[in-house]
Amino acid sequence: MKFLLVTDLDNTLVGDRRATINLNQRLAARRDDFYLVYATGRSLSSYQQLQQEFAAATGTQLLEPDYLVTGVGTEIYHQGQLDQDWAARLDQNWRRQAIAHFLESFPALIPQPEAEQNPWKISYYLQPLDISPKNSLNDSPDNSLDKSLSNSGDNPDNAQVIDRLRSQLTTTGLAAQVVFSSNEDVDVLPCHGDKGQAVVYLMQKLQIPPQFTLVCGDSGNDISMFQQQTLGVIVGNAQPELLNWHKTHPHNHRYLARSTYADAIWEALRHFQLFTQ
Ligand code: GLC
Ligand code: MG
Repeated sequence: MKFLLVTDLDNTLVGDRRATINLNQRLAARRDDFYLVYATGRSLSSYQQLQQEFAAATGTQLLEPDYLVTGVGTEIYHQGQLDQDWAARLDQNWRRQAIAHFLESFPALIPQPEAEQNPWKISYYLQPLDISPKNSLNDSPDNSLDKSLSNSGDNPDNAQVIDRLRSQLTTTGLAAQVVFSSNEDVDVLPCHGDKGQAVVYLMQKLQIPPQFTLVCGDSGNDISMFQQQTLGVIVGNAQPELLNWHKTHPHNHRYLARSTYADAIWEALRHFQLFTQ
């Protein structure tokens, strides 16, 4: 039976060119043994740009996936065509305009470029905290200003803004989920459309059970994949928001790799012995 390999792109499959090329060569040699899915926050055109940049920089191609999940799970492409069943599903109970309007009242949310928005994804950057000292640093005897300057990647103040956003959205009764990644990206999506639910949809379509599915990722927008019953690998270079979540939600089927980027995917394929089954 084929297994299903689902991987995030930025800072998982790509990020270390040597590691990506190595993995590609190993996977290409066994391409009939598995289905390949890329699950990315990027839009389709941004994915195509990555493909071109990778080819130009390395003289080799990224492997052609069987399915491409873009926009943090909001779009699924197969042979270049948008999956209309998935789109129809996400349309249900999704009030994009009302949600976008409500989010305008959060000054900390700076809209991402138009190219990163889609009918089921409203994306922002979380404005960095205003850390400019009102008075001089010397006026801050307890050093609290210095502490707020240290941007460790899981800044509690950012987490508070996100929590507030989530709870206020709940209060309005507008159905949406908020995905926070890399301590700056905020994606607001339909409750039933994220990378994890897209993976479950594809597992059902391809008839692949969870123990034959491996998901790979590095950041907050990958958490929904790790919440499923599949095998999982968190790359060694993962973002704090994912590592923190992993610590509080450990699972036997989820593996924290020692190696980084695409090397971690290979480490996990061996760890779970997926090629020998
Ligand atoms: C990608 C997308 C961006 C999104 C981020 C996190 O960078 O381009 O829109 O916010 O992933 O999901
Ligand atoms: Mg990533």
